[in-house]
Order: sequence, then C-alpha cells, then structure tokens
Amino acid sequence: MLLHSALLALGATLAAAVQPLEVQGQYFVNPNTGNRFQIVGVAYQPGGSAGYNKQTGRDPLSDPDICLRDAALLQILGVNTIRVYNVNPDVNHDRCASIFNAAGMYMMLDVNSPLVGDSLTSWNPWESYYAAYLNRTFAVVEAFKNYPNTLAFFSGNEVINDVDTGATVPPYMRAVTRDIKNYVKNHVTRPIPVGYSAADVREILFDTYNYFQCTLEGDEDNLSRADLFALNSYSWCGDSTFTESSYDDLVTGLSGAAVPIFFSEFGCNEVRPRIFQEVGTIYSSQMSDVFSGGVVYEYTQEDNDYGLVNMHEDGSAELMPDFLSLKEQYAKLDFTEIQGQEAPASSDNTPPVCSPDLIQTDGFKNNFTLPVLPPGAQEIIDGGVNPAPVGKLVTIDSWTVKYTVKNPDGTEITGLAVQPLADDGTNQPGSNTASLAPPSATGTTGGTGTSTSESSSTSSNAAVPTTGAGVLPAMALGAFAVVAGIAL
Ligand SMILES: *[C@@H]1O[C@H](CO)[C@@H](O)[C@H](O)[C@H]1NC(C)=O
Ligand SMILES: *[C@@H]1O[C@H](CO)[C@@H](O)[C@H](O)[C@H]1NC(C)=O
Ligand SMILES: *[C@@H]1O[C@H](CO)[C@@H](O)[C@H](O)[C@H]1NC(C)=O
Repeated sequence: MLLHSALLALGATLAAAVQPLEVQGQYFVNPNTGNRFQIVGVAYQPGGSAGYNKQTGRDPLSDPDICLRDAALLQILGVNTIRVYNVNPDVNHDRCASIFNAAGMYMMLDVNSPLVGDSLTSWNPWESYYAAYLNRTFAVVEAFKNYPNTLAFFSGNEVINDVDTGATVPPYMRAVTRDIKNYVKNHVTRPIPVGYSAADVREILFDTYNYFQCTLEGDEDNLSRADLFALNSYSWCGDSTFTESSYDDLVTGLSGAAVPIFFSEFGCNEVRPRIFQEVGTIYSSQMSDVFSGGVVYEYTQEDNDYGLVNMHEDGSAELMPDFLSLKEQYAKLDFTEIQGQEAPASSDNTPPVCSPDLIQTDGFKNNFTLPVLPPGAQEIIDGGVNPAPVGKLVTIDSWTVKYTVKNPDGTEITGLAVQPLADDGTNQPGSNTASLAPPSATGTTGGTGTSTSESSSTSSNAAVPTTGAGVLPAMALGAFAVVAGIAL
C-alpha cells in the first residue's frame, strides 16, 4: 500500500515530454540536440476502420486503458512513432496522447476519415472540397496541436492511385495541404509539418512527389508546398535485397528531395510469417541519406492480416509471431548511429520550381493552378474552428497495464507497464526492460534484453538520459514490476 502511493506520487511528478521535432531541409530534426530523427514507426488503428465510430465517439486514441496496453507493448517493440489514420477531433485524446508522449513516441495523424464528408475523394475531388470538410481537418489540427509529440499531419492518404486520379486530384490535394498549412500558421505556435502519403504506384509516384514538393510562383510563403513526402510501399517481400525489392529505384527517384521522405507504410505480407528483413536496409547508409525511416503496417490484426498483435473485445491481447520478428530486427539496429547523426546546418537540396516539364507521365496533371478556397473557408482560417477542441497533456496516475497480454506461445507477460521516459527521451529498443518471457524462464521480470545501463551510455537523445532524472524510470519500472506481481 505504502509502495503503491509512493508510486502514484512518483507518477504525478513525471511531467516529461518529448521534444517537438522540426523539419530542416530533407530531415526531421530535434532542435534540442541538433540531431536527425528517423521514424521507427507502427501504424496504429486498433479495431481497423470499426475502431473509428462517429456515433459512439470511439477512435484509436480515445480509450486510455487500451493506449496504455499498446504503448507498453510498442515500447518493448522499440518504436518511436505511431501513425493514426482515423481520429475524431471532438473526443478527448489527452490521456492517450500523454501516455504515448511519456513512452517517448510521436504521433502522425491523418486529418481525414473514410466517412463521407471527411476526406477529399479521388473521384470528382471538387465535389468533396468544401468548407465543412476543411473545418473538420482544421479541427483535427486543433485537437492535436498542443501535444509536443504531434509529429505531422497527413493531408491525404492514397488519393492519387493511377493516371486517371492523377489527372484531377493533384491540385485539390495541394490546395488542402495549403489550407492546413495556412491554418497551422495562423493558429499553432509551431510549424507542425503537413504532407501527403502516397501509394507506391511507380507509374505516377515521382510525378506525385514532384507535384507536391515544387515551389509555386506567387506562393511566397510556400504554403501549398508539402513539408514532407511519404509513401506506402510493399515492394520488399520476404527474403529480398535492396535491388530485388526495387528500393534502389526509390532512392534514385527521390534523391535530392528537399523534404523528408519516409515509408508511411511498409511490411509486405505475401511471404509469411514476415521476417522484416527490409528493416536493416531502410536504416542503413544505402537509404538513410534519402529516407528518414518508416512505419510498419500495422499494429493490430485485422481482416487484411497484417497484424503484430491480436486484440480482443475484453481488452486482452496476444502478440503474434510477427511482433517478435520485428522486435528482433529493431534490436539489431544501431540506434546511436541512427538517431545520433548531426543534421547539416542547411540543406543542399533546393526544391524544383513547379512547371509542366516536371511531370513525366502523359495524362498526369501538369497545371499547377490551384483551386481557390471554397466559400466560408477563409472565415474559419481567420477566426479559427469554433468551438476548437484543443487537447493538452495530462498527468497519468498509473502506468501499469490492466489487461492480460500473452506471448504467441500462450504464456502470460507479467509486469507489463509503460516506462515513462525522462524529458526529451525518445523510445528505442531497451527503454522498456520488461521481459516478454514468463518469470520461470528468466527468474525475474525485466532481466533480459538490452539493459537500461547500456542505453544510458549512448548519445544525448537516447531513450534514457545519462544523469539525474534518468534514474526515475528505472526505479519506477522495478517497483511497478513488484506491484504488478502482487496484483496478478
Ligand atoms: C467545425 O468543427 C467543430 C469541431 O469539430 C464543430 O464543433 C463545428 O460545428 C464545425 N463547424 C462547421 C461550420 O462545420
Ligand atoms: C520558399 O521555398 C524556397 C525554396 O526552398 C526558399 O528559397 C524560400 O526562402 C521559401 N520561402 C519562405 C518564405 O520560406
Ligand atoms: C490551368 O488550369 C487553370 C484552372 O483550371 C486554367 O484556367 C488554365 O487555363 C490552365 N492552364 C493551361 C495552360 O491549361
């Protein structure tokens, strides 16, 4: 009991936060350390599209107990970013955002949802570009703008998928990017980056990229220019190579980019179980000059069979074999090298000026005249969304996971808790020392894997800082493990 209240007090004082990241040239940069940041991410949409329900107000970041369970598991996995597709700006995300923040994870948010009126359509895009739609995207900005771990907004996901949609959608998508950036400029204290997540359809991929990253004459503030370019790519399947997977063509085609490039989805499942061999290549020098990491699709098992974790209605969950394979791949990476690279003071890469000859494919839009704002939208950009559903970080009282989670072999994982990181901490393998193995196999929880002392000896942006506050998380974990042991 005494121990428990001491823990509550400890939890209440941990107001640590990740450092908001900035885009500098083609890199994400931690302005505190001056180091590059590479995304080690997982797509997070528990419940699939059913996890988003406008009527019940449910969305993937609305249930703190579920978020706590998943943040603990993602911490063990070693990721530093989640991508969330469908959020409801009008529900409270404070506890989930605070949990992921404390766990050292950034959030990338799609401003759209698949529901009618909630996204720009690939079919007749002009019919879906109106003030109420923009108001919704701005409301998502309001909801997430005050969380330090909001990394970026996606203005669209796979809206341009072939030459036909490439013929009509690009100016509308660039206009939506413009409008969100304009909203951010007027109503947010930091320039949260905005960009597009493209389908990896090679016929139109590089045209799409050029259409969004070029500088437009007359757009002095570069408001319509994307701050980043991301792609959903499934071209590496099973046991493959840099060239066989055609990753080499991506690096060639995107080299010289003036904005950060990353995989907003990867993880082909045509060969199963997945071995995630591409992870080693994505973060290697073969790619890291051009790419800033990527997001594995996806956290929960859904009908399309890409899951790392199988979750149930009652909140219990099991790790799938793919979780362990991915964890193994992340554990092989040298995070001191990956996150420790000093970003160059200025980018050498200049974006091209928008002009028809940037576009290679016949039929793809090569006219950069953008649609004007729909009626009523300027008022919202000027006056702000009303009411504005602004979120904020809150204190989390307990970091202990309430649900039962099992390994693929059916053994229960004990002592599962989020291990809050100290200020400016970013998650990486080893931050959460809870062991997936049952106690009988190791004799103790938290005894295996990369130890805290190992990670604390790494660079300044490592998960556990070298001095002072760094002691707290380790203490907390040990104590939490005891509490969890009693509870179970
Ligand atoms: C704009 O969004 C806010 C927040 O979701 C909502 O309350 C308001 O009704 C919306 N306004 C319009 C004009 O659609
Ligand atoms: C717009 O982008 C161009 C090209 O990167 C740059 O030279 C210029 O300074 C930018 N303008 C503003 C206002 O940031
Ligand atoms: C580009 O598109 C705009 C708006 O649709 C149109 O007015 C203009 O004539 C087009 N330019 C060319 C060269 O086709």
